[in-house]
Amino acid sequence: ARLAILLSGRGSNMVALVNAVQHGVLQELAEVAVVFSNVPDAPGLATAAGLGCPTASRSSQGRKRAEFDAEVVEVLRQYQPDYVVLAGYMRILSPTFIRAFVGRILNIHPADTHQHQGLHAYEWAFENRLPETKITVHLVDEGLDTGPILAQHPVDLRGADTLAEVERRGLAVEHRVYADTLAQLIKQQLAPTAVPQAAASPVH
Ligand code: GRF
Repeated sequence: ARLAILLSGRGSNMVALVNAVQHGVLQELAEVAVVFSNVPDAPGLATAAGLGCPTASRSSQGRKRAEFDAEVVEVLRQYQPDYVVLAGYMRILSPTFIRAFVGRILNIHPADTHQHQGLHAYEWAFENRLPETKITVHLVDEGLDTGPILAQHPVDLRGADTLAEVERRGLAVEHRVYADTLAQLIKQQLAPTAVPQAAASPVH
């Protein structure tokens, strides 16, 4: 399967995915078609190039969402991806984008998406002193972190008394879970579970 990995920043999940493609669970299952960023000077983009991945970028600064996304769809199509893998891509995708790759866009969220959506999920877990959080890999639909869940993996946060420690533990799990989930998806060993979000989330 051909992967388009999208990032906006650091790119540690991208690195984990590329490692899995090059010599891990995604070997012989996937190739990196392109690493794309909406931030041309994102550190992760340079890292991807250093790892030998094709890269592309377009600056989203000052651009209207639908128009920018239409351009990104055009760029990505040139690389013929089977999956669009969001790895710290800090943009909400417009319906145009979602429809172009419907059912084939994945995201990783560092919390249980029933309990927390959007930014600052590790801060949320830390500030609420949660004994455990859950890393969620899900398909992307038109909502914010509302798509069908592909996999969830718990992170033990007991004794994690700094935000940095919460993040360190969580990221270690993220890096494993994203590649594992993609491998299962590609091998067709996964059926997404659609969870009724309205019923599950206490806050609106
Ligand atoms: C990760 O925590 C990911 O779950 C979230 O954004 C962060 C990106 O980190 N969506 P990185 O760029 O992959 O290091």
